[in-house]
Amino acid sequence: MCGIVGYIGDQQACPVLMEGLSRLSYRGYDSAGVAVLDATGVLNIQKAKGRLENLEELLAGNMPAGTVGIGHTRWATHGEPSDLNAHPHTDVKGGIAVVHNGIIENHESLRRHLQGLGCVFVSQTDTEVVAHLLSTLYEGDMKAALLKAMSMLEGSYALGVVCDQEPTKLFCARHESPLVVGSKAGESFIASDIPALLSHTRDVIFLQDKEIAVLEATGVQVFDAFGHLRQHEFYHVEWDLSSAEKGGYAHYMLKEIHEQPTALHSTFAPRNNGDAHDYRWLPIVPDEAKKLKKISIVACGTAYHAGIFGKYVIEKLARLPVMVDVASEYRYRDPIIGEDELFIAISQSGETADTLAALREAKRRGAKVLAICNVVGSTIAREVGDEATLYTYAGPEIAVASTKAYMTQVEMMLLLALALGDMRGALTPAEAERLRGEIADLPAKAEQTLAIEEQLQRFASTVSQKKHVFFVGRGLDFALSMEAALKLKEVSYVFSEAYAAGELKHGPIALLQEGRLVVATITQPALLDKTLSNLREIKARGAYVLAVCREDLHDKVVGEADELMLIPAADDLLAPLLAVIPLQLFAYSMAVARGCDVDKPRNLAKSVTVE
Ligand code: G6P
Repeated sequence: MCGIVGYIGDQQACPVLMEGLSRLSYRGYDSAGVAVLDATGVLNIQKAKGRLENLEELLAGNMPAGTVGIGHTRWATHGEPSDLNAHPHTDVKGGIAVVHNGIIENHESLRRHLQGLGCVFVSQTDTEVVAHLLSTLYEGDMKAALLKAMSMLEGSYALGVVCDQEPTKLFCARHESPLVVGSKAGESFIASDIPALLSHTRDVIFLQDKEIAVLEATGVQVFDAFGHLRQHEFYHVEWDLSSAEKGGYAHYMLKEIHEQPTALHSTFAPRNNGDAHDYRWLPIVPDEAKKLKKISIVACGTAYHAGIFGKYVIEKLARLPVMVDVASEYRYRDPIIGEDELFIAISQSGETADTLAALREAKRRGAKVLAICNVVGSTIAREVGDEATLYTYAGPEIAVASTKAYMTQVEMMLLLALALGDMRGALTPAEAERLRGEIADLPAKAEQTLAIEEQLQRFASTVSQKKHVFFVGRGLDFALSMEAALKLKEVSYVFSEAYAAGELKHGPIALLQEGRLVVATITQPALLDKTLSNLREIKARGAYVLAVCREDLHDKVVGEADELMLIPAADDLLAPLLAVIPLQLFAYSMAVARGCDVDKPRNLAKSVTVE
């Protein structure tokens, strides 16, 4: 998704903007641009389609001078990726430059209105209307123009604005799109996300919906939609940039796969105070837990798959019906929210537009809501409040394809299932304690599992030219297979699909033929015989089978698959968390073998802030 940076201070703006943009590049983009105001108040705009390197080349030896500016990486929504559609966009006179993340939903009617006033549009973007609108509303005070513009704009936006008439100021506004403001002595910054600011300051303000900020080198003022000055709080960022850097790994994705043992530990630690039955970390008291009749889980992408895993474990341990929906479907299908229903939104970024909208819908209909989220201060976390947010502590996840965040979301699902099961009396205290012990052992077992990396690299190099892959499993292994198939298609562009192993014969088996690759996950002893029968059906059609299997089930599976990858023995409910590691490494190794841009797959964005 689009990335915004802005700078005002005593340094040259352009290098700061370029560094910030490179830190936001993980968000996914297809063009980039900067606008810098020089000392004479002249606005210099440079933009280039494609990678940031193209913009760097354009700027080489020709960096616009000036100490105030804005920059942008664009992820196309309205109009193809091109130099022309890249941001910043300007008004007719070229004195106002705007960068934008989000979608202006009423851009067509505004465009007609502005054309009627004589504005000439040069791009196909919705953003350009903002530049022209500000120009028509401007009467010497950009803050006032922004406030008026905000009352006319519909949709979502984070905006960064510079204006040649007010060259000592930088302006920004937000509504339903993330924007952080940073400040230190003599310099102020804006950015879509914290990593872009972190080499300059750790003190940030999370702008709220319909707020604007006016930044000067000497400080920042925040105003509400009526122009009233707001008291703002600085949030001190504890983590440092090194946690968002590659640290010797070839790619962020590989680094993040390797960080999973730590992520598992960090997420468990705050929920482990020695007393196995102390659930104060969960904002649900035993009486409420007993009364619960249903849980609805809503999320997108990988987080949705964590929700599917959640359904299996919560239903099993807490004996509560769980419904899981993709957020974009949930919000528009007139959901039924009953009494004593718990709604859970899962989101790594806490900014996903569909998940946020579904959460608001559930709140509006009276559901008790919880969020599972990896980013402190994100919109979803703020909307439900820290007290109702179960943070995953995976640390910053930079690779577009989620790995360690998924791992901690799934762990959180297990912890929640365990807590609810214990509070509802669906689990014996002894069983709850045993499971808790198993969760505590997970980081060490995950570390052990990572040793499988080389084996997967070798395997991927032999199958990297396959065009289709099926992932199959039963129960929790099916939930896992869905995530494995998503991971593979995201990073390696290989067509992949997941099927419940027992469902394959009801249609997709028609696609099996000599040499077709099928990856089976086998971690559930109770379902082993059934899965093995399915594998035989698959092999009888000539498919080539890789089985990811628990060490202690090895004897039964050997001979049934062409390749075996073993994971350490673990409890039935926890083994899938280990099995996900080889599946992630498989997707990663396939992407590397196929020469794909692992960390920034085409067309994808890390945080999807538009519907
Ligand atoms: C995008 C990302 C996915 C992610 C999904 C949900 O599509 O590319 O990797 O799973 O958004 O993101 P969230 O931040 O809400 O977990």
